[in-house]
Amino acid sequence: MTPFAAVDLTVYPYDCDAFGHLNQAALLALLERARWDALARGPGMDLFDRNGVWPAVRKAVIEYKAAAFARDVLRVETTVAGRGTTSMTLRHAVRRVSDAAVIAEAEMVFVCIDRLGRATPLPEEIARFLGPRPAAGGSHRLVRVPAGDVELAVDVRGEGVPVLFVHGFPFDRTVWRHQLATLSRVQRIAFDLRGVGESGTPAAADGFALARYADDLVAVLDALGVRDAVVCGLSMGGYIAFELLRRHPERVKALILADTKAEADGREAKRGREELVGLAEREGPGAVAERLLARLLGPATRATQPEVTAQLREMALRWSVPALVGAQRAMGERPDSAATLRAVRVPTLVLVGSDDEIAPPAAARAMAQLVPGAQCHVVPACGHLAPLEQPLATSRLLADFLSALL
Ligand code: MLT
Repeated sequence: MTPFAAVDLTVYPYDCDAFGHLNQAALLALLERARWDALARGPGMDLFDRNGVWPAVRKAVIEYKAAAFARDVLRVETTVAGRGTTSMTLRHAVRRVSDAAVIAEAEMVFVCIDRLGRATPLPEEIARFLGPRPAAGGSHRLVRVPAGDVELAVDVRGEGVPVLFVHGFPFDRTVWRHQLATLSRVQRIAFDLRGVGESGTPAAADGFALARYADDLVAVLDALGVRDAVVCGLSMGGYIAFELLRRHPERVKALILADTKAEADGREAKRGREELVGLAEREGPGAVAERLLARLLGPATRATQPEVTAQLREMALRWSVPALVGAQRAMGERPDSAATLRAVRVPTLVLVGSDDEIAPPAAARAMAQLVPGAQCHVVPACGHLAPLEQPLATSRLLADFLSALL
């Protein structure tokens, strides 16, 4: 039941009817299993019990959208759609992993009850686990956007000034989970890069050129009818934002550069990338994640936030091998972006983790100095993944910067 939990479950033959379709009541049971599974992986299955309360289902609204069959693996994504003093509303999206078909969507309202069956306020530990209260009325949709040779999976939440979130390597759009949940005064748009997560993988050899990544941003904005957006890039996402500035500067209303840097790779860095390419080809994304873990996360995060390490591994596993290889080569070939940044005339925020080894604070300060009027902030106790390692501090910086644009 973690906000944004994603749990994969296999449909068994006994879940199906005589025609082989997943039975409607069995699907409800799968949703239940996904919620318990999420608790088991997070705060423990006894979360409610140990707080002396129980979540009673008050209302279940379910839309069955497509048939599923025995042996299908279904991914159940759960988000907190609403939260009151004694109640919470969870939204489930159920997709088949093999073809991303949406099988069902459900909204469930739970009331927290005590042992006598009376509605009772959500205990502090449970409220904390559920995360910040989502904005009332904020919409949430998953859109598939054609972008040349692939389709991109795009998460669109809320209304207001559009902010396009671009993740880095080897992450996916969930790296922005806290910002997507909390920046309720703006429209949050986050997508999986080509070859990652729910987005398609291009077949062509040049499918991962930096220009293709940048044009994907334009495809997303066009599909949503957005003329220009605040572009927020994390690390490789920053390199893609620089390429967008070179190709389509008119689409950038403001810039947020997190844990990224302006300079191109030197010979040593390029050699490191070729090593990583070899590792990806031989052993796949899991090995890449293990190799990078210690450099990506700050020491404080590694010591105290095991769930961040777990999420990092999960995100890396959602990369296809061609995407790992293509992204490394695209980054290795990227040009120096100092001149690009000197030409920027839009509001710009630079932020960096205090212990970021890949794009260190000195590089961030140098980058901020290139952009007239740019702000620069160092996030304490944080490595290369500020949005995930220090979500509150990062979201607060973003909210302050964005409030000046509203
Ligand atoms: C990233 O986080 O996107 C990468 O670490 C950037 C890089 O390899 O230069």
